[in-house]
Amino acid sequence: MRVALTGATGFLGLRLLDELLRRHRSVTVLARGEPDRVLDRLTRGLGRFAAGHTAAGLAARVRVVPVRLAEDNLGLTGGAHRELADSLDVVWHCAGNTTLDGDPAVLRRVNVEGTRQVLGLAAAGRRLPAVFHVSTAFVAGARRTGTVFEDELTDAYGFEGSYERSKYEAERLVHAWARETGRPAVIFRPSVLTTGLPPHPDLPEHPLLNIERALTGIGREHFGAGRRPELLLPGQPRFRLVGRPDGQLNLLPVERAAAVMTRLAELPQGEGVQTYHIVHGRDTPVDVLRSLAERLAGVPVAIVPELTDPTPYESLTDCVGGVFRYLRQRRRYDDSRVRAALGPPGIPQDIGVDYLMAGLLPRAPDLPDPRPDPRPEGTDQ
Ligand SMILES: NC(=O)c1ccc[n+]([C@@H]2O[C@H](COP(=O)([O-])OP(=O)(O)OC[C@H]3O[C@@H](n4cnc5c(N)ncnc54)[C@H](OP(=O)(O)O)[C@@H]3O)[C@@H](O)[C@H]2O)c1
Repeated sequence: MRVALTGATGFLGLRLLDELLRRHRSVTVLARGEPDRVLDRLTRGLGRFAAGHTAAGLAARVRVVPVRLAEDNLGLTGGAHRELADSLDVVWHCAGNTTLDGDPAVLRRVNVEGTRQVLGLAAAGRRLPAVFHVSTAFVAGARRTGTVFEDELTDAYGFEGSYERSKYEAERLVHAWARETGRPAVIFRPSVLTTGLPPHPDLPEHPLLNIERALTGIGREHFGAGRRPELLLPGQPRFRLVGRPDGQLNLLPVERAAAVMTRLAELPQGEGVQTYHIVHGRDTPVDVLRSLAERLAGVPVAIVPELTDPTPYESLTDCVGGVFRYLRQRRRYDDSRVRAALGPPGIPQDIGVDYLMAGLLPRAPDLPDPRPDPRPEGTDQ
């Protein structure tokens, strides 16, 4: 079985690559940049958490094809495109721009046009490669409450930002592709992906690190040399973030997401587009994220429904905080299709503050490196 993967150098893609290499003799990585450098990044990244990968072993099993994602034919010559397409049985599309409030034109180019090109590659393949498209649970948009079902795809609620819209449009393309080609496709919608693996220069960054940066900045402003007294005003002794105190978000270990997605990909495909919510069996209360914020900022943090008389720093956080707006959500994701396919989930391990902190703060230099291959135990599925 010949498998191609885009986005392998990213936070999720690296875990997907690990899972795919457990199942297949070789994987073709479609990436930007010079192949040797891409392979070196993959080798160093996998070396941080996955046992058994050597540089020589990976060089023999991973073929890197340099592509330009959003260009016609992925930037390949007609012949190279045809040869690549005809060599594949499976195409995983995981590359994407995840900047929540990024430039809509850039997001569109990478996430929508990039998807169009990957679908074009799959359409051209003589062996009719299967398509696995990595989307996001956040295509549900600005809807903040209720239950989101796997078959729903609507823009009726609007979107919290340009990233969500671009991923929604990409899903629409997958549906159109399936209709036009008469071929099946699978869409995976992971929720917010987390890790307990400490950040390291050899590892891709992950979205929660943005929260860490914003909030440790608050701590510095308050306690550091550039202390700003207006951060916490007299009579308002807490730093406030706008959200629902009873809100909840779905957070899922990235390792778990990759494992569930690759297991689902092994099942026989139905007709048309099958969409799966790749989510944790238990939502994480916003209060856990409040406690995390408190630990990071080093000041008491409150979640408030609205911000009256914001301090300058609070206004700034409210404005720049693409991620903070998700503290206003209390929706849940129905994952019946995943449960029907893989059986009832085990007892899920809650996502806690200590786990999240471990994935945000660099490891103290005197501590040993993490053990390779840390599988989160007892999570769902
Ligand atoms: N992280 C999450 O919490 C989360 C949750 C739900 C869904 N997702 C989805 O999962 C996928 C991967 O996300 P991630 O968190 O792994 O993101 P990431 O760490 O930022 O990785 C993005 C990947 O896409 C590649 N890429 C980005 N722009 C590109 C371009 N213009 N041309 C070619 N390649 C490009 C990157 O390549 P370089 O290394 O060369 O930059 C990298 O391999 C995305 O589709 C995202 O929407 C992520």
